[in-house]
Order: sequence, then C-alpha cells, then structure tokens
Amino acid sequence: MLTTIVSNRRLNETQFLLRLKTGERIANLIPGQFFMCRIPGSSGLILRRPFSISDANVQSLEIAYKITGAGTSVISQLKEKDTLDILGPFGNGFILEHQLENAFLVAGGIGVAPFPLLAKVIHKKWGKKTDITLFYGARTSHELVLKDKLSSVTDKILFATEDGSKGKKGFVTDLLSEKLGKLSQTARDETMIFASGPTAMLKAVDIIAQKWNVRCQISVETVMGCGYGVCLGCVMKIKGNCNETNGKKYKLACKDGPVFYSGQLEWD
Ligand SMILES: Cc1cc2nc3c(=O)[nH]c(=O)nc-3n(C[C@H](O)[C@H](O)[C@H](O)COP(=O)(O)OP(=O)(O)OC[C@H]3O[C@@H](n4cnc5c(N)ncnc54)[C@H](O)[C@@H]3O)c2cc1C
Ligand code: FES
Repeated sequence: MLTTIVSNRRLNETQFLLRLKTGERIANLIPGQFFMCRIPGSSGLILRRPFSISDANVQSLEIAYKITGAGTSVISQLKEKDTLDILGPFGNGFILEHQLENAFLVAGGIGVAPFPLLAKVIHKKWGKKTDITLFYGARTSHELVLKDKLSSVTDKILFATEDGSKGKKGFVTDLLSEKLGKLSQTARDETMIFASGPTAMLKAVDIIAQKWNVRCQISVETVMGCGYGVCLGCVMKIKGNCNETNGKKYKLACKDGPVFYSGQLEWD
C-alpha cells in the first residue's frame, strides 16, 4: 500500500515519529501487529523493514522509530508529501481476552513504540476500571519519547534510566520486580504484563513473570526478511509443543508472533 507522509518529526537525536496517511481504513488492527516498509530509492536495501504501529486513526498510522542502520536512516530523511510503501498488518498482536484489573506495560527504549495504541485499546476493550501502569526504561532520559501521548492514556508511568537521569537508576525490570513483590497473589492474578524492548530485557521480564506467577505477553524483536512466513529468517526456539526439527522446536516470530506468552520461548 502506498502511503503519503503527513509528517516525520524528530523526537531526539535518533528517534522519530512518522505519520502516514493511508487513504483507506485499516480494518481490525491489533496493537503489537506490524507493517513491513520498503526503503524508498535504495537499490542496496532490498528487504522490507518491520515496524509496529504506535497509533492509528481512521485513515492514518503513526510509527515511532529509531535510526539503527541504513534503512531507518533513509526513512528519517523523508519529508511531508513523500510516499512510503508498506505491507501489512502482519503477525499476532497482544491478546486482550479477559478483562483484568491491572495492565503492566513494560518498555525498553524504542520498544515503547506499540504502547500508545495498546493502552488506548485496553481502555476501549477492558474499560477505565483497568489500571494501566507503564514501566519505561532507557539508557538516559533523552531517550524517553512519546511521553505526552503516553501520559494522555495513563498517569501511572514509572521511569528507570541506566544513568539515573530520570526515575530509578538501573533497569526497568528492577522496577517491575519491586512492584510485583509488593502485590498480593490475588492482585497478581488480576494482572497482565505486556513487554516490548531489547531481547535481554524481554528475557528478564519472562523470568520475573514466571517467578511471580503473573500472566505475561512478550513482543519479540528478530530480524525479518518477508514478514509473513516465507523466508524462515525469523525462527524462534520455543519450549511448547509445535513443529519438531531435529529434536528442537521452532516458531516463526512474524507469523506465530511477534507476541508470545511468557514461558513459551527458549532464550539460549
Ligand atoms: C515486529 C517488529 C516490530 C518492530 N517495530 C519497531 C518500531 O516500532 N520502531 C523501531 O524503531 N524499530 C522497530 N523494530 C526494529 C526495526 O525493524 C529495525 O530497527 C530496523 O529493521 C532496522 O533497519 P535498518 O535498515 O535501519 O538497520 P539494518 O542496517 O538492517 O541493521 C542495523 C542494526 O540494527 C539491527 N537490527 C536490524 N533489525 C532489527 C530488529 N528487527 N530488531 C532489533 N535490531 C535490529 C541489526 O542487527 C544491526 O545491528 C521492529 C522489529 C520487529 C521485528
Ligand atoms: S520474516 Fe520471513 S518467515 Fe518470518
């Protein structure tokens, strides 16, 4: 689908917010699903790059992204009225089956990208009675983005920075651990964790969720070639019962994920 860029706003040195006009309504978009973007005008960058959706309105989408390499660097140069070719939505997003009292959104760095939309949809599906707490970690306060958007959906935002420049000094997973340790098991039973960020953080969240016996969904980041199950570039080793290959079990992050339940993934 060819989209037109409405704006491509710089949030800090490396992070941007891209707003795209889709020209048509994207039906049934689930937070945590992603689109594959073709990098325009770059013959060397053949593979599309995956990005989750930060916000969606009737005919527009927002993507929060960080420059990590050549493709995101090209996207950061795009201007209003330029076009971007996107495919999707792909994958299984976050599941909001039963209404719970607490939603804990745990973000590391640009992993925060899908959470404004997720928070909105939690309020829509589960109602305002569900308390949303965002645990948001980054290396330094300059890397914390989308704060205005996020504070419009929850006033419970707990920050952690590795250099101590905002919130607790250290990892966001320390904050999560502390909070869960203070809850009763009854409150933990009424809690769902949603995590998105770097793999080391996701692994730590997985361990913490299992330790405290809290339901948890984890959105994994793997390098993706196609986005829809053809290239097999995004295999994840899992613990559950699924396809056996030489005694090992695998799922595809793009098709079976990118969201998995805690306890499903084999991290090493
Ligand atoms: C389902 C999904 C959703 C994503 N959503 C977002 C988002 O909303 N915002 C955002 O900024 N990024 C997101 N990413 C990561 C994003 O796709 C990569 O940062 C991007 O593809 C890098 O492209 P590049 O050409 O700039 O970098 P490349 O030149 O391809 O790579 C540069 C560096 O980035 C690393 N890298 C490449 N792909 C990934 C990846 N998928 N995850 C982590 N590191 C990677 C490479 O290993 C390399 O070190 C998402 C990834 C996935 C799998
Ligand atoms: S990205 Fe191609 S199979 Fe998953």
